[in-house]
Amino acid sequence: CRERAAAAVERHARLIPDFPSPGIAFKDLTPVLADADGLDAVIDALAHVCDGADLVAGVDARGFLIAGAVARQLGVGVVAVRKGGKLPPPVVGVDYALEYGTARLEIPADGIDLAGRRVVVIDDVLATGGTVVAAARLLVQAEAIVDTVAVIMELDGLPGRERVIADVGPGVRVHT
Ligand code: PRP
Ligand code: MG
Repeated sequence: CRERAAAAVERHARLIPDFPSPGIAFKDLTPVLADADGLDAVIDALAHVCDGADLVAGVDARGFLIAGAVARQLGVGVVAVRKGGKLPPPVVGVDYALEYGTARLEIPADGIDLAGRRVVVIDDVLATGGTVVAAARLLVQAEAIVDTVAVIMELDGLPGRERVIADVGPGVRVHT
């Protein structure tokens, strides 16, 4: 099913030259997910590599589109890892560095039992890895076991995968 997902991405992803800055070719996955067969292919492939998870965590915002569908296919629940300031208290949060400035991700401190549960982190794209590493750290802080990070696409020429393995641990599986 990985080949089918890759073909869907190849077919539908839109390439935008020089965005967000000159020399960068931005791959927009929006049309992949807007296509019924593309969405099905991508969700199928991600669910396949997330088999055995107790809970799916989707990263704000584009990860949400994928995580709920994967969770439904696996027959487990979904948790939204939100950008800072969106959730009612109490929350647990983590600050992380962006290219310029910092960002914050948060999850509820109450109401979701994460301790000892296998949680997979789902997002659309792995670039520098900063986002999924921050999400994984937050979940581990809540005593979840994060052994899988799954995204649709990783960007060439960036050490995202290496960073996830270095920061989350050598046992983490990175699926793209
Ligand atoms: C994008 C993308 C990933 C992240 C990848 O999200 O959806 O979440 O960047 O980059 P990284 O690996 O370098 O952290 P963005 O922060 O633009 O927000 P959005 O999902 O809300 O659009
Ligand atoms: Mg994002």
